[in-house]
Amino acid sequence: MVENGATAAHVLVIGSGGAGVRAAIEAAEHGSVVLLSKTIAGKGGCTPMAEGGYNAVLREGDDPALHAADTLKGGAYLNDPALVDALVTEAPDRMRELLAWGAVFDVGSEEGVAQRPFGGQQRPRTCYAGDRTGHEMMVTLMDRLAATDVEVVHECAAVELLLEAGRCKGAAALDSEGRLGVYLADGVVLATGGGTRVYDISTNSSSGTGDGYALGYRAGAEVIDMEMVQFHPTGAIQPYDARGRLVTEAVRGEGGRLLNRLGERFMSRYDPERMELSTRDVVARAIATEVLEGRGTERGGVWLDVTHLSPGEIERRLPIMLEQFLAFGVDIRTEPMEVAPTAHHIMGGLRITPDCATTLPGLYAAGECSGGVHGANRLGGNALAETQVFGRRAGRSAGLEPERPKGVTPAIERQLGALRLRFDDYLDGEVPPPSVVRRLRQTMWQGAGIFRDEAGLAGALAGVELLKNQRLFAATERNLLECCTAANQCLLASLICRAALLRPECRGAHMRRDADCSTPPNASRYGHTFLSLTREGIEEVA
Ligand code: FUM
Repeated sequence: MVENGATAAHVLVIGSGGAGVRAAIEAAEHGSVVLLSKTIAGKGGCTPMAEGGYNAVLREGDDPALHAADTLKGGAYLNDPALVDALVTEAPDRMRELLAWGAVFDVGSEEGVAQRPFGGQQRPRTCYAGDRTGHEMMVTLMDRLAATDVEVVHECAAVELLLEAGRCKGAAALDSEGRLGVYLADGVVLATGGGTRVYDISTNSSSGTGDGYALGYRAGAEVIDMEMVQFHPTGAIQPYDARGRLVTEAVRGEGGRLLNRLGERFMSRYDPERMELSTRDVVARAIATEVLEGRGTERGGVWLDVTHLSPGEIERRLPIMLEQFLAFGVDIRTEPMEVAPTAHHIMGGLRITPDCATTLPGLYAAGECSGGVHGANRLGGNALAETQVFGRRAGRSAGLEPERPKGVTPAIERQLGALRLRFDDYLDGEVPPPSVVRRLRQTMWQGAGIFRDEAGLAGALAGVELLKNQRLFAATERNLLECCTAANQCLLASLICRAALLRPECRGAHMRRDADCSTPPNASRYGHTFLSLTREGIEEVA
């Protein structure tokens, strides 16, 4: 329905990864839904690229309480316990739902889907479809979406949330031609995924630009724990164009061994009990330390070896890894993979309740753009589960919003006017976005990476602020979105640096070399860091 030149629906979902599509499917039970996708829906973002798996308690001998305990310990006890509870209790039902909708997961010798061990978990709990789990989920979800009345708008990116009397009422969006559209709704779900493309080396696709954090923050919602950036321990190193590409944790789950240049299985120095299946923060720091102390490969990585597995096992369980490395000129059946840490996931994000309400009325968030589920470090396999559990919850909450009048009010017209002025400024600007983003990514890698200290973070923040103030240049309307995205990335980077400066401790993925690292995480006096337009700080635990 179009009103006053705007498209109106009961619910607007922004983002078409696992969380967004699940939210849209759920919201469709409550009324009309429009889903905005920056890419061709179902093809962009992280879910279709996710390799390893989906954590769910499905068997005797495992228990949601154990899953919760692993998630909290892995998250260095910074997680919001109510969100963890929702994750672990609902992940099994959401998995059964995917299977009922036609998803084909691997089966093992026991009845039901197979489950493999992943880092930091006391039980093999990670369900998988080979090493293309996210792809299988996304295909299934898109099929299900097609059976609903959801209107999917492809290649149309939200560039600003629209507010009316303190409520989120929708979004302004740009299509691929650079035309501005207005989408109004009673409830808005942000499910825009993550943003580790603000780092030089990242597993994220080019659409992982952190738009949701920026949209929510600019509209007045609060973000928490933005300093908590996960560096996945194993990304490809070569060829150059593939550096950072995910080498799934499933490789270690299937028995892969990490070796340094001297052939030492070095994890025995860092976590002798869990070895390669320690949590990601520990394994990533171990690899970085080996390299910094001169025991890395010539290219600055370590070896990940599965040659002790049979070729058949590798072909069956890790087909994408085999194919990917063959394309890189490495046969992983007979040679080790060369790997190094790569920015992978942002644990922080928009503060949400268990019903996915953000601090801005009318706005809900689910998936990576929300914060609090994973605390200071995410367990592998918990993100895909999160998309389904919280996608459904967000869709339901937005769907339950009462119907309200939806029109382009004077307040919304003023916001659109400001946006048009911003676009005019881009068309008259000076600096092409790629040059800003390139410098941003290097600045973040150098100053806000795996090991941090106050001077490095302050330097990174200063660099980011300089870039943020550049006058971005759009040659034509079609380039406006690139400017908006670059501005979002600059804002995201500044949120990460500011939050990292607020937390004067080592906690999970946040390793401050200049802080006391001896306090166990469950005895920390600090809670969430928080940032909004009106306040910022760090919570102190009583
Ligand atoms: O290593 C992986 O396959 C990634 C999984 C995850 O981030 O959950």
